[in-house]
Amino acid sequence: MIYLDNAATSWPKPDCVISAMTQCLKEYCANPGRGSHGLSSAAGLAVSRAREKVAEFFNIKDPLRLCFTKNATEALNTAIYGVLKPHDHVIATGMEHNSVLRPLKTLERDRKISLTLLKGNRFGEIDLGELAQSFRPETRLVVSTLSSNVNGIMMPIAEIGEMARSRGALFLVDASQGAGSVLIDVESMNIDLLAFPGHKGLMGPQGTGGLYVGPDVDIKPLMQGGTGSNSELIYQPEYLPDLIESGTLNTPGIVGLASAIDFIRETGIDNIGKHRHRLVERLHEGISRLEGITVYSRPEKGKNSGIVAFNFDWADSNEIAYILDKKYNIAVRAGLHCAPAAHATLGTLRRGAVRISPGWFNTMDEIEYVIKTIEEISRQKNLQFV
Ligand code: ALA
Repeated sequence: MIYLDNAATSWPKPDCVISAMTQCLKEYCANPGRGSHGLSSAAGLAVSRAREKVAEFFNIKDPLRLCFTKNATEALNTAIYGVLKPHDHVIATGMEHNSVLRPLKTLERDRKISLTLLKGNRFGEIDLGELAQSFRPETRLVVSTLSSNVNGIMMPIAEIGEMARSRGALFLVDASQGAGSVLIDVESMNIDLLAFPGHKGLMGPQGTGGLYVGPDVDIKPLMQGGTGSNSELIYQPEYLPDLIESGTLNTPGIVGLASAIDFIRETGIDNIGKHRHRLVERLHEGISRLEGITVYSRPEKGKNSGIVAFNFDWADSNEIAYILDKKYNIAVRAGLHCAPAAHATLGTLRRGAVRISPGWFNTMDEIEYVIKTIEEISRQKNLQFV
């Protein structure tokens, strides 16, 4: 089987992640911060070390401002519902995932906020002039994906951050695609809120993620509950990360994520980014020249975090993904990828798109095989595969 669905979740995981999680589960997986016994302290220490490691990875100065969540969706909802107030105006790109769009659209529908979605060009790249003109006195938040989960297009994060900061708006980045192969620096990019999953490009396990909350952000929690701290208080502690982290943490998952960060550091984020880019560039070149194919991704370095999205003119994207899986043992994702706004931008709302997303563990030989396979399918468009 050739796994090319790393945009949904990366697979396989580095061996060190599996070993670290196994060791945690076997040797010290007590409840972190919920007891004074040795095993609880060991779990608490492992979580603290992981927090420091992840914070350093994103150049977060104060690790306590990094809150662990179960995924990027929880982090994004926490950020959006936590900072917006009635009558606020929000600007977002036209390539956002439903984890951003649904909370924003719900708040807009309920007349709590107003929302501007940037149009962008045919790849979804935003126009910084359009962004500049969209600010209003009541603009409180700008939201941008680091890279689209549909076609991999990269957003100009540093430029957006600078514009948001100079106009007094907060900047929330959805780093679901790109974290782990694209350098993210919350300081130099003026990022106030960074939401990320642990299980995609960071190569950690599912059930992990986080939200960085910058020092200028006043945030309310999405959930309240036990934090292991200030148990005498009837209200949620007001300091981070406890304000956001209610309930028992995913200790083995967090330990696995920390080990994955070690793996990325040892491998080199640049090497990972270059490898993914080489695979994407070759794939793009190999299939875009085929007759009857439309490719929606850009191949250039710096424009794509590692995705090639395409369609055959004569088929639904789900049919092609089905054929790739059942006949050729190639795992890709098709359809709308929980991002209908992105598909509206790309003009693929009706059929979706076939999405191929290589990861660190994919090889050039696998990509060559995929190209040959897609060539074969393109020659046999009237074949019945099922
Ligand atoms: N949002 C994930 C994807 O793009 C699951 O597939």
